[in-house]
Amino acid sequence: MPATREPIGGVFALEEPVRQADGETLLERWSKGAAAVHLFHNARSALSHILNSMQPSRLWLPAYLCPDTLQAVPDGLTLLYYPVGSTLEPNFEVLESEMRAGDAVLGIAYFGRLQPSVWRSMAQRRQDILWIEDYAQALDTGGGPLSSLRIYSPRKLLGAPDGGILVDTDGKVPAPLLELPGDTKFIDPYRMRAADPAGQHNERWYAAFRSVEAAMAVSRQAISVESRRILERTAVDPIANARRGNYRTLLETLSSHALFGDLPIDWVPLGFPMRFEDADGLCAWLAEHRVFAPRHWRDLPSPESDFPEEHALSRSLLTLPCDQRYGEDDMRFMAELVERYIG
Ligand SMILES: Cc1ncc(COP(=O)(O)O)c(C=O)c1O
Repeated sequence: MPATREPIGGVFALEEPVRQADGETLLERWSKGAAAVHLFHNARSALSHILNSMQPSRLWLPAYLCPDTLQAVPDGLTLLYYPVGSTLEPNFEVLESEMRAGDAVLGIAYFGRLQPSVWRSMAQRRQDILWIEDYAQALDTGGGPLSSLRIYSPRKLLGAPDGGILVDTDGKVPAPLLELPGDTKFIDPYRMRAADPAGQHNERWYAAFRSVEAAMAVSRQAISVESRRILERTAVDPIANARRGNYRTLLETLSSHALFGDLPIDWVPLGFPMRFEDADGLCAWLAEHRVFAPRHWRDLPSPESDFPEEHALSRSLLTLPCDQRYGEDDMRFMAELVERYIG
């Protein structure tokens, strides 16, 4: 392997906010048909606003979730977890029998994917529940909206350094009074990455990224002008096509380890989640070869004694990058590395 090979994964370079000719933009796709769209600094702030203004009696979260999401839960709100097992499919029986009128339920589109038919029929049948779709990892689930509230977090998908997009189909959430964007230091790692196309200084931009991510908090701050312009101008389809093509390439060689062994039509993957018993070892080996595979998520906030399957999944899951920055050669290089480690 040449020592100078560009890293795969890690921080996105700040996108150029250039209007692209090829069709619908991200913001157009996400906000289509919605009565209101509110642009927060991050997704947890959008969720916090929904919960604070709609005041559900209790909140159901899936037992497999990003710990940062808990920052959005108002003090005093009763928090309950529902199982999603080792395949990340919600246990609708548990939900159906335990939910009470006035509860809120958060459904996560894991890696951008969600089972639309079951969610939609539940949401239609139980209109006494506040349904919230968490699309933080989703560019397009291919299933259309299932209920009336969705949240997005674009920085997981492209080089837009902030944003939490609250899409309210029916306009039922009161409009937030957002503050003007303040300090924009959180853009620095994305600028550093853009200034280092060969990725020679990855320790520096990665450290900068970790520190701005650690500082992300719930606030009333609006999205930055920079990110808003990027979302208003970046076309969806080239991103979606590149991600799907790369996923398909990885599936050719790594399907036996894939968490999802298929590629449903219109699903745009966040990455290629794979299960491997020694996920820590594989991650370290990939990092030695400058492939940075994130863990979604290594520490779950749900109690392990109640959700052992979810915690076992969390220990063994890693996500290979397959986003729009890469092509077939990169995917083959990465798949070969994985195969060498697995032996
Ligand atoms: C599924 C999911 N929802 C919500 C969040 C919170 O998003 P943000 O960091 O934009 O607040 C995350 C963060 O990683 C996430 O993965």
